[in-house]
Amino acid sequence: MCGIVGYIGNSEKKSMLLNGLKELEYRGYDSAGISILSEGNLQTFKAVGKISNLERKCHNFTSEGFGLGIGHTRWATHGKPTEVNAHPHFGTFSNIVHNGIIENYQSLKESLQKEGKHFISQTDTEVIVHLFESYVEKSQNILEAFTKTIHNLKGAYAILLITQKSADTIYYAKNGSPLIIGKNNNEIFFASSDAPLIGLVTEVSYLQDGAIGAMNLQNFKNLENIQPLLQDKLTAQKDGFAFFMEKEIYEQHRVLLETMIGRVQEDCFILEELRAIDLQSISSITLCACGTSYHSALTGSYLLEKIAKIKTKVEIASEFRYKEPILNSGELFVVISQSGETADTLEALKLIKRQGFQTLSICNVDNSSIVRESHTTILTRAGIEKGVASTKAFSTQVMVLWILAGFLAQIKGILPKTEAQKIIQSMFKATHLTKVNIKMHEHIKRLTKRYLHGHGFFFIGRDIFYPLALEGALKLKEISYLHAEGYPSGEMKHGPIALADTRLFCVALMPQNLLYEKIKSNVEELSARDATICAVTSEYYEGSDDWIKTSQAQTYMEEFFEMMVALQLFALEVSLRLGNDVDMPRNLAKSVTVE
Ligand code: F6R
Repeated sequence: MCGIVGYIGNSEKKSMLLNGLKELEYRGYDSAGISILSEGNLQTFKAVGKISNLERKCHNFTSEGFGLGIGHTRWATHGKPTEVNAHPHFGTFSNIVHNGIIENYQSLKESLQKEGKHFISQTDTEVIVHLFESYVEKSQNILEAFTKTIHNLKGAYAILLITQKSADTIYYAKNGSPLIIGKNNNEIFFASSDAPLIGLVTEVSYLQDGAIGAMNLQNFKNLENIQPLLQDKLTAQKDGFAFFMEKEIYEQHRVLLETMIGRVQEDCFILEELRAIDLQSISSITLCACGTSYHSALTGSYLLEKIAKIKTKVEIASEFRYKEPILNSGELFVVISQSGETADTLEALKLIKRQGFQTLSICNVDNSSIVRESHTTILTRAGIEKGVASTKAFSTQVMVLWILAGFLAQIKGILPKTEAQKIIQSMFKATHLTKVNIKMHEHIKRLTKRYLHGHGFFFIGRDIFYPLALEGALKLKEISYLHAEGYPSGEMKHGPIALADTRLFCVALMPQNLLYEKIKSNVEELSARDATICAVTSEYYEGSDDWIKTSQAQTYMEEFFEMMVALQLFALEVSLRLGNDVDMPRNLAKSVTVE
C-alpha cells in the first residue's frame, strides 16, 4: 500500500520524483507529496488526490544541480486523506516518507508531546520525524539518531528520511514493507517496487527486513544482495487499450500460455520448482491467501481434491494468523499472492515457517517478500498487473493450481498418461477460450445497461463455479460500488432467496459439464420469484431474462475459464457505464501491505 520513491543526484529532482510516483500511483492515490533538499533548502509540496494535482501544485518549481528528494503516494491508514496528512511529514529540519503502520505511535507521540514537540497531522508517521529530531538534538550523530529512532518503532515500515543536517544523504529503514535501492553512474534511486526503477538503473539491492542505513553517492557498493533489474517496461503499458483492466483481461490467453510453458508437456506435468520440497511426505495441503487470491485458492482446493485426491483446506490469511492454527505433520502450506507483499499473507507464511512446515508460494512478483520468505515458489507469469481489480493474476493462479494438481497426482501414481493427456488438452482449450470473443464483449456491453440499478446482485454457482461466483461478485463490487454477493446456488433456499424480487439481479453460472440439472433447479427457484436472471451458459435456458452465451465445451474447466472472462467483462462494462475509474477504484489499492 502507498508508494515511495527517493533520488540522489544532479538531474531535475522534481521530475525524477513525480515520474517515479506515477509508476506507483495505482498503489494508493488519496494524496501525494514530494520534498527536495538542494543547496541547503528543503522544499515540500503536497496535494490531495492524484499525482496530476501535485504536478500542478509544483509546476513553477525546478531544482537544478546536486540534491536529493523523497516522494510518496498515499493510501490512508491513520487520518483522513487530507493535505496535512499527506507525506512527506516534517519536523524542524527533516522530512520523511513512510509505507506501513507504526503500531506504538500513540505512546511515542505522548512522550514526544511532553518534550514539547508539536504535531500537526493525525498520522502515525509524524512521530518518526519528531523522534529522530529529538535524538539529533541530544547526540548530533545523525546515523546514530536515525538508528535509535528505528529501534523504537514497532510495526511494519519502509522509511526514507532527509535532513538539512546531512544534505547529501538519504536515511532508510525497512521492516515488513518492501524497499529497493538502485544506482546508475552518479545517481541513486529508491522505490517501494521495481516499476519506477525500470529504465533508470540496471542493478538494484532488495533490502532485507532490519535494514537501516545512510545512503549517498559514495557508499552504494557497500550494499548486500545487489541484483540485475529486469527491463520489462513495455508490459506495464496499456498497449492501445483505454484501461489497464481491459488490456489485462484481453491478454489472459497469452499469459496463460506463458504460465504453462515448460510445465505442461504432451502427457505429463513438470514442476522443477518443487524439487526443494519433500513431495512424498505430503499428506494434506493448506492454501492461504486474501481477496481474489483467496478465490483462486478455493478453486485450487476443488482441483487438488478432484485430481490429486489430496485433502485440502483453504484459509483467509487475516483470519488464519490469529486463530492459533494447527497443521498436521506432512501438511504443505501454500500461500497465493499476486503482489507477494500482502501483509496478512506474508505474516501467515512466516508463522507457519517458524513452526517448521514446508512452504510453497504461488506468486506473480519475483523477489517479492513472499517469494523470498517461502521455501520455494511457482511464479505465475502474468506480467505486471496494474489494474487494481485483479484479472490475469487470478487466471494464472488458477492455471498454476491446476498444473499443481496434475503434477501431484502424477507423483502419487494416480494419473495415467491418457488422463494427463486429457487434462492437458483441456488446459489448452481453456486457455484458447479466454481469448476475448469480440461479439461476446459487445453483447455484454449492451446488456449491462439493464443492470445499473436494483438492490443488489447474487452471483451463483455450484462446486468449482462457486469460487468463480465469489470472484465475479468481488470484481463487480470493487469497480461498480454496487452490492454483490457470491453464493453457492444450493444455499440460496436456506435464506438469501428471501431477497428475490424483480429488483434482485442474479448472474447464474450454468456449466453444461458439471451439475447442470442441479443448478438449473436452483435458478428456477429464483426465476419463479421474479428475480432477474442473467444466465451464463452455452445452451439457451428458458427461465433467463438475459443470456451470456458461452461456447460448447468438453470439460467444466473450459467453461470455467470462458465464464471467468465473461464476468470480468461484465464488471468492467457496468463500471464504465456508471462513469467510474476502473483502474483506480475508490478506497482500494493494489498491494495491501498493512494488516
Ligand atoms: C481484488 C484484488 C484483491 C487482492 C488481495 C490480495 O481484485 O486484487 O482482493 O487479490 O488484496 O492481494 P495479493 O494477491 O497481491 O496477495
